[in-house]
Amino acid sequence: MNILVLGSGGREHALAWAIMQNPKCDRLICAPGNAGMDAIAECAALDINDGSAVVAFCEETAIDFVVIGPEAPLAAGVGDRLRAAGIACFGPSAAAARLEASKAFTKEICAAVNAPTAGYAHFTDADAARAYVREHGAPIVIKADGLAAGKGVVVAMTGAEALEAVDTMFGGEFGAAGAEVVIEEFMEGEEASFFVLVDGETCLPIGTAQDHKRVGDGDTGPNTGGMGAYSPAPVLSDAIAQAALEQIVRPTMAEMVRRGMPYQGVLYVGLMIKDGQPRLVEYNVRFGDPECQVLMMRLGGQALDLMLACTDGRLEQMQVNWADDHAMTVVMAAKGYPGNYAKHTEIKGVDTCPEDSFHMVFHAGTVRADGKLLANGGRVLNVTARGATLAQAQQRAYDMVDMIDWPDGFCRRDIGWRAL
Ligand code: AMP
Ligand code: GLY
Repeated sequence: MNILVLGSGGREHALAWAIMQNPKCDRLICAPGNAGMDAIAECAALDINDGSAVVAFCEETAIDFVVIGPEAPLAAGVGDRLRAAGIACFGPSAAAARLEASKAFTKEICAAVNAPTAGYAHFTDADAARAYVREHGAPIVIKADGLAAGKGVVVAMTGAEALEAVDTMFGGEFGAAGAEVVIEEFMEGEEASFFVLVDGETCLPIGTAQDHKRVGDGDTGPNTGGMGAYSPAPVLSDAIAQAALEQIVRPTMAEMVRRGMPYQGVLYVGLMIKDGQPRLVEYNVRFGDPECQVLMMRLGGQALDLMLACTDGRLEQMQVNWADDHAMTVVMAAKGYPGNYAKHTEIKGVDTCPEDSFHMVFHAGTVRADGKLLANGGRVLNVTARGATLAQAQQRAYDMVDMIDWPDGFCRRDIGWRAL
């Protein structure tokens, strides 16, 4: 088959790497891709949020199957356009992608089926939101309703912080995404993510992971898109995963079917776990980044078979073949991230790192120019390894980090600490 992967981050490099290992893949194109994807597949310049352009590209290049990495094209309906043109596509419809694109929509779906999640209220007016904050007090969580590139959530520990967040969001900081605001009860506990393939009816778990959102060692400093991840997440035990499936995932997916918008694709289930009970923090309608990198490291080539079965409505016949293994990814970022950072600094030594089914450096933001590898973003490399134990995966990942010569980059040195 001819396969197209949409996206340009470490998540998409990991998807491309897994897909390439499956003999069903004859030709792989990544759009727009990055220097890492360019080394294993073809890359094509394409506006991935433009449904017409994506459909035309697929027709020209005889693409049989499209894997959509990020949320923006999903929310923009690129999957719908592909399916309408008869092209198989992994990823939900725009209607179902509202599970990520609107926090109020997800809360309403949860409320309809009594799925455990934080109590909430939904506001279109700043005065009413401020009154609610004053009534409930801190800690409290203020969220822009729409997509805000991971920046639309403020966990306010004081009332003043909460009121300021309300003002910022209604003040237009997040544009249309902040025109509506969801205010939630603060949940305590440990966060972990659960990944489930859904083909409308059938829900098939494909792994658990834990991310590290803060930029600094010991979970200090500002929030980021994720500084490292590992899989499995021991806090998400089989019993808790089962409870999440039965109490949260299956009922909400059944509600989506009932509303005429069945979900197809991978569901990223962000959970807060306390006293052995999971509650939903958020749904995302795509793989996590960098969580995808550790999942792909563990799944390998079967990931393509699973995504094809998900797309064709055959998940009921599938099972995941798990090795009893662990994977870890360490994010190398440009110094200064998540604030201002220098672009196009040179990275050496990546080609000295081993590349096999236990070791892989996925590229998150790189370009190649004049034969040199240059950083092209905040999160730049995802140094990923697999091992029999998490400690072994960690050792292998940091051994590779030490082989990379990038004076303008940095990473956390404690990825995995909660589980080790
Ligand atoms: P979200 O984009 O909804 O996942 O929120 C981003 C982060 O904010 C989550 O990963 C949590 O760490 C935190 N968060 C969101 N909602 C809550 C909540 N109700 N209680 C505590 N923390 C939360
Ligand atoms: N790593 C968090 C996310 O992908 O949303």
